[in-house]
Amino acid sequence: GVTRHYKFDIVMTNVTRLCHTKSMVTVNGQFPGPKIIAREGDRVVVKVVNHVQSNITIHWHGIRQLRSGWADGPAYITQCPIQTGQSYVYNFTIVGQRGTLFWHAHISWLRATVYGPIIILPKRGVPYPFTKPYKEVPIIFGEWWNVDTEAVINQALQTGGGPNVSDAYTLNGLPGPLYNCSAKDTFKLKVKPGKTYLLRMINAALNDELFFGIANHTLTVVDVDAVYVKPFDTKTLVIAPGQTTNVLLRTEPTYPSANFFMPARPYVTGQGTFDNSTVAGLLEYENPSSPLSPSFNKNLPLFKPTLPPLRDTSFVTNFTNKLRSLATAQFPANVPRTVDRRFFFTVGLGSSPCPANRTCQGPNGTKFAAAINNVSFAVPTTALLQAHFFGRSRGVYSPNFPIVPLSQFNYTGTAPSNTLVSNGTKVVVLPFNTSVELVMQDTSVLGAESHPLHLHGFNFFVVGQGFGNYDPVNDPARFNLVDPVERNTVGVPSGGWVAIRFQADNPGVWFMHCHFEVHTSWGLKMAWLVLNGNRPDQKLPPPPSDLPKC
Ligand code: C2O
Repeated sequence: GVTRHYKFDIVMTNVTRLCHTKSMVTVNGQFPGPKIIAREGDRVVVKVVNHVQSNITIHWHGIRQLRSGWADGPAYITQCPIQTGQSYVYNFTIVGQRGTLFWHAHISWLRATVYGPIIILPKRGVPYPFTKPYKEVPIIFGEWWNVDTEAVINQALQTGGGPNVSDAYTLNGLPGPLYNCSAKDTFKLKVKPGKTYLLRMINAALNDELFFGIANHTLTVVDVDAVYVKPFDTKTLVIAPGQTTNVLLRTEPTYPSANFFMPARPYVTGQGTFDNSTVAGLLEYENPSSPLSPSFNKNLPLFKPTLPPLRDTSFVTNFTNKLRSLATAQFPANVPRTVDRRFFFTVGLGSSPCPANRTCQGPNGTKFAAAINNVSFAVPTTALLQAHFFGRSRGVYSPNFPIVPLSQFNYTGTAPSNTLVSNGTKVVVLPFNTSVELVMQDTSVLGAESHPLHLHGFNFFVVGQGFGNYDPVNDPARFNLVDPVERNTVGVPSGGWVAIRFQADNPGVWFMHCHFEVHTSWGLKMAWLVLNGNRPDQKLPPPPSDLPKC
């Protein structure tokens, strides 16, 4: 591979959407931020220079960071933040991955404006295991707030209240024509008839899973989270924050007499119809007979796809069940066959809102709490990886993250009452190369929401999922160890569970959290500490000299 250099200047930039202009944190003045493009096997070197008042870190979401944990990026987990006027060089090699991932700020809620695509092409000369696309197009979903995101968030976290609904969802930074004062901010995908396009879709939204479809067109799913899957056709897909999905779009063989909406709107939260919670792009055919004419023809009808209803959990279950690894000789599914350690984690929101006269349960001064095994993660004031590496863990974290829930869990279809939460900075310590099976059980305390759990540093295999209580006696017999999907972010179904397996072959401290930013802020997060192995190539090297200090 080669080395690819990028420079990310973190700057304040004025951006206008929905007729509101605000000054916000961006990379190089771009929103969404610049694309990182590399091939499998390349080294990527990104110098991040912080010119703004806020501290920042950047996370390369889904990059395995094999023995490069210092470059992973979550604030106070693998590094201290890059302070105003300082810089840090992220340096990592892309090993065994090709597809679409993304990068985003990993401190506070800065990822609302600081994010962009990572495009990983196969090694030179290695073809895709599907039709070679005529063109590749990144499609990155996000959210827009008219006012300063950090202010909204801090206020909401401290006063309580539900998730902060943004003013718009965006597609490549653009809300589209269904919002007020937004028609000119519409993403237009201009295509030619009879071609195959690869859409590299990323959900960088903060708090919503999204349904997506293109009117009158079928999509073929070929890859999720930078791992190829067995191709299948669908009209609609669902994509959770933190997930990426590559689809092939075959355009109509001849120029059609219509324009086509390509909308996305939320699953579970938000509104349910085509309204002002719907972001839409437009698919426009370039008329081959007059290629110079504007492609959007106002005289043609505009078709809208049918998206599943707001709470269509059965659609989501069916869709996710279709995702299967290729499991071929060239792209094997290396599912751990044996399990060294089994874990059962409850994930969900914690105690009820804090009464006015009592101490709040939430960590870091938040009003609500969310927890894994009844522990709400308190963010430390120094980075866990540094504390571990230099043998200064005392007072920073404790190695006693509970391997079963602190209060016994039983889901009866309504919210359990035993949802007490304690705060702490606790990790699970794993010897190098431990094979892990983890069952995550949703507690469904506050309404129906699934939790997109994201694991740093690893891909995992989704070997099973179901509804109700996980049954440790009978459910494992149905686990798929042949071609389970391999990914880095999985939706723990509302009122259900999901089972994953991974091989802890990457020494370092690896964050795991709900990719709904509001749930993360409430404490739905924890960390795995994977120890070095004995061989030199099984050890985490020392940190780079410019690693920021707290
Ligand atoms: Cu994309 Cu820790 O997250």
